[in-house]
Amino acid sequence: AAQRTLVLVKPDGVGRGLTGEVLRRIEAKGYRLVALDMREATTELLEQHYAEHLGKPFYGPLVEFMMSGPVVALVVEGHEVIAGFRSLAGTTDPTSAAPGTIRGDLGRAWGTAVVQNLVHGSDSPESAAREIGLWFPAL
Ligand code: CMP
Repeated sequence: AAQRTLVLVKPDGVGRGLTGEVLRRIEAKGYRLVALDMREATTELLEQHYAEHLGKPFYGPLVEFMMSGPVVALVVEGHEVIAGFRSLAGTTDPTSAAPGTIRGDLGRAWGTAVVQNLVHGSDSPESAAREIGLWFPAL
């Protein structure tokens, strides 16, 4: 079924000039861009976006990383796009992400306090609805 997902190009991706490459891969796969906005994330927004990670050891560094520069937020639509984008992105840690994926091809396998993995994609229909509401309340 057609679905929507929230994708973020994280500050490492924007900073390294990889926004266009991420968009290219999304569009080449046949997904449709529904909304796109570059912005600076606030602590309030990230607290809600990453509510499930509150209290984890990487939470502080994660929020700091996500505020280290602008992010590009996208709503992407397509057939089974939630799983499909996660497959395009590859596994969380670029160290082990498969070649052919965004993180596998472009992610730097450096040991840092937070996995700097270029992109975020919603992990379920429930997360997608919640995250799209947070980042694009008008949609
Ligand atoms: P994301 O898909 O945005 O969801 C949570 C983020 O936290 C994740 O991508 C990584 O950037 C980061 N992350 C997840 N697990 C860890 C971990 N074990 N150590 C450090 N950072 C992590």
